[in-house]
Amino acid sequence: MASRAPMLLLLLLLPSCPEGCPAACHCYSATVECGALRLRVIPQGIPPGTQTLFLQDNSITRLEPGTLAPLSSLRHLYLHNNSLRALESGAFHAQPRLLELALTGNQLRGLRGAAFAGLVQLRVLYLAGNQLVRLLDFTFLHLARLQELHLQENSIELLEDQALAGLSSLALLDLSRNQLGTISQEALQPLASLQVLRLTENPWRCDCALHWLGAWIKEGGQRLLSSRDKKIMCAEPPRLAMQSLLDISGSSLICIPPSVHVEPLVVTANLGEDLRVACQASGYPQPLVTWRKVPQPRENRPQAQAQLESGMPTLGGHGAPDTGSGMLFLTNITLAHAGKYECEAANAGGAARIPFRLLVNATRPHRLAPLAPVVRPADHEPQHETGSMAFRALGLATQTAIAGAIALLALTALLLAAMICRRRRRRKKARAPPGEGTLFVNDYSDGPCTFAQLEELRDERGHEMFVIDRSKPLFVEGPVETPEDRSTTEGLAPMSRLPPRVAYEIHC
Ligand SMILES: *[C@@H]1O[C@H](CO)[C@@H](O)[C@H](O)[C@H]1NC(C)=O
Ligand SMILES: *[C@@H]1O[C@H](CO)[C@@H](O)[C@H](O)[C@H]1NC(C)=O
Ligand SMILES: *[C@@H]1O[C@H](CO)[C@@H](O)[C@H](O)[C@H]1NC(C)=O
Repeated sequence: MASRAPMLLLLLLLPSCPEGCPAACHCYSATVECGALRLRVIPQGIPPGTQTLFLQDNSITRLEPGTLAPLSSLRHLYLHNNSLRALESGAFHAQPRLLELALTGNQLRGLRGAAFAGLVQLRVLYLAGNQLVRLLDFTFLHLARLQELHLQENSIELLEDQALAGLSSLALLDLSRNQLGTISQEALQPLASLQVLRLTENPWRCDCALHWLGAWIKEGGQRLLSSRDKKIMCAEPPRLAMQSLLDISGSSLICIPPSVHVEPLVVTANLGEDLRVACQASGYPQPLVTWRKVPQPRENRPQAQAQLESGMPTLGGHGAPDTGSGMLFLTNITLAHAGKYECEAANAGGAARIPFRLLVNATRPHRLAPLAPVVRPADHEPQHETGSMAFRALGLATQTAIAGAIALLALTALLLAAMICRRRRRRKKARAPPGEGTLFVNDYSDGPCTFAQLEELRDERGHEMFVIDRSKPLFVEGPVETPEDRSTTEGLAPMSRLPPRVAYEIHC
């Protein structure tokens, strides 16, 4: 190509290149122009020495593995205004010289951690105007030289603490016009070179978790924000809506630690029955409610005690806190279901747990087995527990309460069932229908999208279980590494705390 440099003008006029140029494209020097050609795939025959490749304004839905592989000299790749829905892992691994990658205006819904692997020289990455919802830990880990990251005009609602890890050269981060309610200090920590930060036009939730941001901007962070960028407006709570974070005193940025309520705390179920147990939680911001089965069945464990956080003493003035509810949903109860469970509610202000015990009446309806109303699973429930299991018939007051609760739950359960059905219908056919002993762990606090995060597991007895996995991306397939730091915050944490983002494990 270099030898043809003197003929550049001629080549511009006669854009057919003897070395080969994809049909309808224009090739000159080391540049290939294939913009607005209604292409659905990257065309074949792009000269391997190409340094600048224009593919914008097409309908490319997918980067076929291998099509970019020969283009190791690429410096600039323009793929904006296409229809890309996902990027394969290692999609750009053969582009070690790429400086600029434009993916603005595609339909990307998620990014795999390895999508940008190999882009060791990349300086500018445009991802604005896609449909990104979550930025997962280590998404940009490979981009040590990246200077500009444009993420504006997506639907990003969660920025995980390590999502920006590795971006030590980043000078500009644009997260404006997204759906962020909060952002942690940890998330911005890796950005040692940051010069410009844009956070405007997000529905910020001005609570204790955002306390750090206000304080930081008022101090050193100022220099990163232009006067326009300082208008970080609160969307929540109502009393702070439409106010700028910078105009609010730190003492107004509060959380109400959760409290949880389960009634009754002990239930006996018969074999084969279905059971729903509601867990009501209150607090601000709305707590995430999670059920888990307590793994170790030893008595007198402190963990088995209710750890209701003592709420802030002056809650009255802040209006009714949001309530969340979570449902433990067991079908076709077997002995393996018996044991201790725990409902946990967590928000940025702290966490609260309440224990719940399920006893299983092993008496088959068709024959009587007196004196053995309660049976524990033999294999991993120690003997000494059996003595403490005696079930007391529910008192009248409790029964009344149950009746009330059941009425309340009926509608919720119906809704839940409908959602699950819808969800399950969409599941791959390969999944067997739920066998005996299905454990649904539901969480109403963030709506039906939670079901995208339900993970199917099996315990050692082969029971199918569904567990909410918040670390699991909503749209990206394949495993995601998440560090196992289950940092439950006890008590009031005024600074930068996101709700736990870790998998909720159930050991049966
Ligand atoms: C995107 O590309 C189409 C052609 O595929 C074009 O008509 C449209 O104007 C482009 N949109 C933008 C915002 O550039
Ligand atoms: C256990 O189940 C049997 C048969 O359904 C029933 O007769 C008995 O009352 C139950 N016991 C308790 C404690 O619920
Ligand atoms: C419930 O579980 C038992 C085995 O424990 C099984 O035989 C039965 O078919 C299951 N019932 C339903 C409705 O799944």
